[in-house]
Amino acid sequence: MYKILVLGSTGYVGSRLVPKLLDKGYNVRVGWRTRSKLLVQTWINHTNLDPVRVDVFNRDELEHAMEGCDVVYYLIHSMYSGKNFEEMDRTAARNITSLADELGTKRIIYFSGLGKVEDNLSKHLLSRKEVDRILRTSKTPVTTFQAAMIIGSGSASFEIMHYLVDRLPVMITPRWVRTKTQPISIEDTVLYLVRCLEKPETVGDTFDMGGPEITTYHDLMRVYAKEAGLHRRLVVPIPLLTPRLSSYWINLITPIQASIARPLIEGLSHETICSENRIREIIPQKLLTIRESIHLTLSEIKTKK
Ligand SMILES: NC(=O)c1ccc[n+]([C@@H]2O[C@H](COP(=O)([O-])OP(=O)(O)OC[C@H]3O[C@@H](n4cnc5c(N)ncnc54)[C@H](OP(=O)(O)O)[C@@H]3O)[C@@H](O)[C@H]2O)c1
Repeated sequence: MYKILVLGSTGYVGSRLVPKLLDKGYNVRVGWRTRSKLLVQTWINHTNLDPVRVDVFNRDELEHAMEGCDVVYYLIHSMYSGKNFEEMDRTAARNITSLADELGTKRIIYFSGLGKVEDNLSKHLLSRKEVDRILRTSKTPVTTFQAAMIIGSGSASFEIMHYLVDRLPVMITPRWVRTKTQPISIEDTVLYLVRCLEKPETVGDTFDMGGPEITTYHDLMRVYAKEAGLHRRLVVPIPLLTPRLSSYWINLITPIQASIARPLIEGLSHETICSENRIREIIPQKLLTIRESIHLTLSEIKTKK
């Protein structure tokens, strides 16, 4: 049985991945940076868990965390750090790459965003692609998954939508509300991330992962409003609203900070649709529809209250 390191274990995706790996019987080393975020995790007292403090910019800590692990999940980004996040992400990826080579790590699993470099991507998405390219300079094979918005409570892009729709009966939005996208539920995302461990054909390859439906952000808002039992929302797209203005406005209406909202909004201007669906054949599972995913998310939010 592999020994697994999850970097970004206290993040949105990582914190949901860890319990699923533990359920499968894996020994999981969780890399944490912020103690308070670690201590609130439901899985914190699991017997197969080995928590290790690690800042990926600290090579000694990272070496200690990676030592003895066969598989490393790389679920980290530096977007919350502000302006020079690209440089930070570059450095972090280089640190992982050189240590993976030194320590003989068998496999890296990286989770990135959907979109092609030639598509005039946002800075955030370009940086995600660059991290992929750097990781792939390693001798260790990298499996990359690429997804659009994840539907689930805690996912930054889903949170923006849910706060906006909850709070605003009439909404002025940029044109991106008409952009096509293929969101996936957090449940299905995590299943792909876990089950690829049992599928040798996923080693070293890149997979698009998306839910069963292609939609627009406008339609997502409509489905959300309906599932949340809200009156119909009026959405008015106007061309002049720039990502900068939108992010300040989102910062006013929602608890999401502008530095996170802006790169996410920039990313919404281009289509995020899977260009291939090979992972569905390798890891067959019944994917949740958008309505089912939103319904499940709302039930979880209610239970937590
Ligand atoms: N969420 C989505 O909708 C979505 C969609 C597609 C792809 N993805 C990909 O999924 C991955 C994870 O995203 P997420 O939404 O889970 O992010 P997140 O919730 O912001 O979590 C990021 C994690 O990285 C950790 N981290 C950041 N800098 C670190 C450092 N220097 N050293 C150690 N740990 C550090 C954070 O630790 P702290 O606790 O200390 O902050 C946190 O645990 C990313 O690669 C992202 O591109 C996400």
